[in-house]
Amino acid sequence: MIKKIGLLFVFVSCLLIFQCVLAAENVAGSEKRIGIMSAMDNEINLLLTNADIEYEDKVGGITFHVGTLCGKNVVIVRSGIGKVLSAAGTAALFNRYDISELIFTGVAGGVSDETQLLDIVIATDLVQHDYGTIDSSGHVWTPPYDGPEDGFFQCDSSLVDLAYKTAAETIGEDHVFKGTVVSGDQFVSSSSYVKLLQERFDAYACEMEGASVAAVCRQYEIPFVVIRTMSDKADGLAVESYENWVETAADQSSSVVMKMLKEMD
Ligand code: ADE
Repeated sequence: MIKKIGLLFVFVSCLLIFQCVLAAENVAGSEKRIGIMSAMDNEINLLLTNADIEYEDKVGGITFHVGTLCGKNVVIVRSGIGKVLSAAGTAALFNRYDISELIFTGVAGGVSDETQLLDIVIATDLVQHDYGTIDSSGHVWTPPYDGPEDGFFQCDSSLVDLAYKTAAETIGEDHVFKGTVVSGDQFVSSSSYVKLLQERFDAYACEMEGASVAAVCRQYEIPFVVIRTMSDKADGLAVESYENWVETAADQSSSVVMKMLKEMD
């Protein structure tokens, strides 16, 4: 009998140790960290230049840069372009690290008549402009299944306020806007589509990742904000404008993120 109890004890202990090893493999480090995500290399370059990276962790083709930036523990990650890769990158980040909040930084096309080249838009909420139904009349927008009823994913208001204040201090209040950012798997280069985005969503900017990242943040209940500098006006000249301004615009958003980090608790 005693022998049987002993064997059972050894078996249960082994099971517990095995589970601990598995858990350790899934969570790389137990410290809380701020997640900073972008779609492209040129949107994280300035952050990486200024960060002290302790190690790099490669999972599923995504490199997580783990270290400190402006005195804060961070994970900096480039997800890749578009809604699929940005959602996958966000889920991988949240599954692997203990993330307290997520800041998404990068460039966008200006949609509002008010936003000019190199202005900054801080997203208050985000929507997938290409979601919906195709019927005989074409695309009919609907809110996503399993999302907020109206389809608008809300950013964290404290992060929005801090991002707005920091951006206004950096480039002046006249060049910073808070508003709806729309995301879709298309680079928008059409004045008529810009009109549609204004009328349907009252949008300030369009890009290709924010709303999908927002959907994952909602599932994991992690506060987030999206900061975008306008590289173009999403019109017929968008491609040329984007090519000329993407680096400057990306660095400007990164500068705001770094100043924000200094002010965060
Ligand atoms: N990112 C930067 N400019 C963009 C545009 N015009 N459309 C979609 N994503 C963008």
